[in-house]
Amino acid sequence: MPMTAAHDPLAPPVVHRFGTPGSDGATRAMLLGSGELGKEVTIALQRLGVEVIAVDRYAGAPAHQVAHRAHTIDMTDAAEVRRVVELERPHVILPEIEAIATAALAQIEQDGLARVVPTARAVQLTMDREGIRRLAAEELGLPTSRYAFASSLEDLQEACAEIGFPCLVKPTMSSSGKGQSSLRGPQDVEAAWDYAQSGARVAGARVIVESFVDFEYEITLLTVRSVDPDTGEIRTDFCEPIGHRQERGDYVESWQPQAMTQDAYDSARSVAARITGALGGVGVFGVELFVKGVDVYFSEVSPRPHDTGLVTLRSQVLSEFEMHARAVLGLPVVTTMASPGASAVIYGGTGIGPDAGEGGTAQGGMVEGVGFEGVARALAVPESELRLFGKPSASEFRRMGVAVATAEDVELARERAREAASRVTVVR
Ligand SMILES: Nc1ncnc2c1ncn2[C@@H]1O[C@H](COP(=O)(O)OP(=O)(O)OP(=O)(O)O)[C@@H](O)[C@H]1O
Ligand SMILES: [Mg+2]
Repeated sequence: MPMTAAHDPLAPPVVHRFGTPGSDGATRAMLLGSGELGKEVTIALQRLGVEVIAVDRYAGAPAHQVAHRAHTIDMTDAAEVRRVVELERPHVILPEIEAIATAALAQIEQDGLARVVPTARAVQLTMDREGIRRLAAEELGLPTSRYAFASSLEDLQEACAEIGFPCLVKPTMSSSGKGQSSLRGPQDVEAAWDYAQSGARVAGARVIVESFVDFEYEITLLTVRSVDPDTGEIRTDFCEPIGHRQERGDYVESWQPQAMTQDAYDSARSVAARITGALGGVGVFGVELFVKGVDVYFSEVSPRPHDTGLVTLRSQVLSEFEMHARAVLGLPVVTTMASPGASAVIYGGTGIGPDAGEGGTAQGGMVEGVGFEGVARALAVPESELRLFGKPSASEFRRMGVAVATAEDVELARERAREAASRVTVVR
């Protein structure tokens, strides 16, 4: 067996022998979720000679296109997840999205069938805003926004009154801003409840109410738990903070480093160390924090590379994807920043809409087989690079690619990334 972890899912994940992909001795990794982040993880794993199996709910997903093998299944179906794991017998499973039958992962881990990254429990806790919030605030005592939970409109009215306005309502099971609203007063509660129900992964969904944190800026603190080659113990390392700007619940640009006072950075690292320590396992975590003066509030954490961390493709010696691949295999990481950098998202945009000719928009309609124009002009921006994800279909607000750039300082890097992204147009 190439991995001790195949016997004991909680044992240090050191791979003593890297096999040859396609042979019996191959070291096999399975991605559950095969989006643009998974595509980069796949490439990073393959560079280390790992055999990669990419799974998603639709065919032709970005990581499907670069993996050794691809499967298309309903990942919320526990029996389907189990079946594909038994078929492929991966040594390690990397959940890339939140909407997965986590009970199946827990069983797989318990049966010693495969190691789940970072752990099945961490995946379970972080897919549910209630699980991770209670762990962070109630067990670890980390500072967060004030919050309450509700399972009906009546509950929610009471919860909002208790938390006060302005506040935010989010389904406990959702991501990428789906079903989230900001509320100014009691008159907004009913619409927020209805909207949360429409954006949740399940019907009759529970919601969280959070007090609005009037932060100065928000960061992702990429935190890596890996095996220290000298001691064999797990160590925790932090990247330079990543600043980002969100619109419609999705990130539109990110940059590294975000300037912080030493005190705020120390608090941020302490919060990140405690939450990732409580989740356990190895790999990259994206710890989302709100900063106001010296106060740092924990918001949420991804137990995997983070979309705002795409900037590290250029700004770090090892990207978050390479760090993740290494940490997962028990290899050492470095979190060193190579240059200030920035990323800017390329959306489907309005050029692909059915009425685009008459100035209309795509209105969420999916368009297949789009094209990208202006790529040469985009890459003429100094120190810029592009990732075009290859998604089989596009819509106005679907993330289709990203521009990344470096410069002597963050401001110039941001200008370059935005300029490069703006030069790419998605067309029919
Ligand atoms: N309590 C809050 N106070 C102020 N702003 C908030 C609060 N909660 C969320 N936001 C804003 O909304 C954004 C998205 O919220 P959150 O990260 O909880 O949603 P998400 O659906 O998990 O998004 P993603 O999956 O893209 O990270 C945050 O990055 C922040 O800008
Ligand atoms: Mg978030």
